[in-house]
Amino acid sequence: MKSPAATLNPIPQTPPPASTSIDCCPGTYRALSPFGLLLEANNSGSDIRELALTHLCQLIWKYRLIVLRGFSPLEQEALSDYCATWGEILSWNFGTVLNLVVHDNPENYLFTNGNVPFHWDGAFATAVPRFLFFQCLEAPALGNGGETLFCDTTQIWQDANSLQREVWKKIEITYRTQKVAHYGGKITVPLVSEHPITGETTLRFAEPVDPYNYLNPIFLEVAGLPAQQHEQFLRQLIIKLYLPQNCLAHEWQPGDILVADNHALLHGRHPFKSKSSRHLQRVHII
Ligand SMILES: [Fe+2]
Repeated sequence: MKSPAATLNPIPQTPPPASTSIDCCPGTYRALSPFGLLLEANNSGSDIRELALTHLCQLIWKYRLIVLRGFSPLEQEALSDYCATWGEILSWNFGTVLNLVVHDNPENYLFTNGNVPFHWDGAFATAVPRFLFFQCLEAPALGNGGETLFCDTTQIWQDANSLQREVWKKIEITYRTQKVAHYGGKITVPLVSEHPITGETTLRFAEPVDPYNYLNPIFLEVAGLPAQQHEQFLRQLIIKLYLPQNCLAHEWQPGDILVADNHALLHGRHPFKSKSSRHLQRVHII
């Protein structure tokens, strides 16, 4: 069943041309590669709260994610309040705003400077967020890593042949992880699903997180495919996630705001140099 947002925020048929001011969201627009849209404010220190929400949502359905640059950062409480104007926000044991920083004694790989394998957020939650809303307070210097990776699973589906699609449609994967951070448990999810707003076909997949290299590992069990094919299936799918035509690596600049479609995309992270400062804040909007 589609959410009311499908009616409120139809996908625009024509993208805004590059380097054009649009009255409701003025600024300079630039398409990112292989997907995504950057909107830079005309004046630095602009207030993101003045942008037209409906228009931003339309841009996300069309481009998968938007990066907003040149806007004043919001204090944590103001950030949470602003995100609540987009829709209901998820509340976790830490509250509504997750501070992604390196911990002194991390229990989960999210809070290290290591890489984060691809996944979607909310898999273990009561509701899967529609949007991931990030605000960057500190970013590693150029060349020091820490890019957030996004994979457009609708593109992988479009590029798959009919035989591949038939195989994938039968697959269900069980994910199991101990609840050490704010998520955990055991869930079983079909690989192929329908985007609840746009109706497009998406893949829901999280990479295995092996116990030898990561804190708080995630274990997978594949069903719907002969056992002798599991390893090859996983290996080939993971290769597709990182192909340049499917994967965007966003190099953060302090002050960046990034809003991503959590239903269409998977996300992960490149590792970054251990002494680099990196502080992102993230809110889940249902
Ligand atoms: Fe995540």
